[in-house]
Amino acid sequence: MKKQNSGMLSLKESRKISKENFRITKEFEKNKKRKVDASFYTTTMHNNENVIEFDDLHTFFFTDLGVVKSVNGISFDISKNSIVGLVGESGCGKSVTSLSIMQLVQAPQGQIVSGEIRFNNDTLGLDEEGHAKCFDIVKMPTDQMYKIRGKDITMIFQEPMTSLNPVFTVGYQLDEVILLHQEGATKEIAKEKSIEMLKLVGISDAESVYKRYPHQLSGGMRQRVMIAMALAGNPKLIIADEPTTALDVTIQAQILELLKDVQKKTSASILLITHDLGVIAEMADYVVVMYAGRIVEKGTVLEIFENPLHPYTIGLQKSKPLINSDNDDPLYSIPGQVPNPINMLNTCFFKDRCERCIQKCETGYPNEIKVTKTHSVFCYLYEDVKEEVK
Ligand SMILES: Nc1ncnc2c1ncn2[C@@H]1O[C@H](COP(=O)(O)OP(=O)(O)O)[C@@H](O)[C@H]1O
Ligand code: SF4
Ligand SMILES: [Mg+2]
Repeated sequence: MKKQNSGMLSLKESRKISKENFRITKEFEKNKKRKVDASFYTTTMHNNENVIEFDDLHTFFFTDLGVVKSVNGISFDISKNSIVGLVGESGCGKSVTSLSIMQLVQAPQGQIVSGEIRFNNDTLGLDEEGHAKCFDIVKMPTDQMYKIRGKDITMIFQEPMTSLNPVFTVGYQLDEVILLHQEGATKEIAKEKSIEMLKLVGISDAESVYKRYPHQLSGGMRQRVMIAMALAGNPKLIIADEPTTALDVTIQAQILELLKDVQKKTSASILLITHDLGVIAEMADYVVVMYAGRIVEKGTVLEIFENPLHPYTIGLQKSKPLINSDNDDPLYSIPGQVPNPINMLNTCFFKDRCERCIQKCETGYPNEIKVTKTHSVFCYLYEDVKEEVK
């Protein structure tokens, strides 16, 4: 795109982009409403032990300033009965990833443009070769998505009041979820299950909380209610996007402990999104590090904490506050900022902030280097390792 000297787009250029965006997004919106056969959005898992597999997912925003590539070709899996931590600074694309799973990216400007999100809810059986049949969320029409969203896949947000309705009681809202998703549920059954869910999330006076309105509860209590709501449909995958950021430190620890406990009791998997590596260390089995819309490193929690490789992962670890530290030195922070992923050059996106940049880093975006079966990194510093492993 030609730019004026100031780096700003001219009105003419901006109008042209806007017109083009309208054309592109209209097509995507049309596709979401198409009547298609189930075979169109059914595929098979690459590994039956996974609940979800992201495969080269791209989610873009078509803005008047250009295309924001918020999620730019990410691939990772979440195995059944596990907690996967998705970490990166603010603006790295974590929330857009989670909204893509739910098909809740802000439309029409936000669209999943390519890739697959294979979701295995264990209801479709196996194909002739024994692979689990599953949905490809990217291809699912909106009306089909309603059947899994809020039931098989649920979400816990940072701010509970964005999901809890202030004018209805906690009990009413919980009952609604159960009545919607549990076949044959009566009001009595729903109430019973709601109270059971409130107890499961550690609310001892469940009967009384059931009758209260959200504003009558503390922040920590509201977050517990949100978790109860997320559990009400017996989900396979719970997405928790910065679930404790708005809470004070002691309550944070309690909620994280609760999430861990709930994960064990229900065997659902959790995608835990946070900017805080400390939280990941406590909670996750597997870690995915994102930067400017791409994955820069992924591995088991041990691999990421004992042998972090990408300079960005190392920087995040250095900037993690140490509990019990009596050191008064100011906390390290990675110099610079996450770029807005628009018109990015085809080189390592972290290059401008990287202290270990080598000549090769000028040559193109680094490929994935598999260090172990579970650990991989996208960085030129480890090219030799690749040869050793292969
Ligand atoms: N509705 C939107 N319109 C345009 N750009 C957006 C929108 N939502 C998010 N983005 C951009 O996508 C990138 C990733 O955002 P997000 O996923 O919210 O980051 P994170 O959750 O990691 O903090 C950011 O550059 C952000 O500005
Ligand atoms: S590829 Fe180069 S610029 Fe990017 S993180 Fe590695 S060393 Fe730094
Ligand atoms: Mg976010």
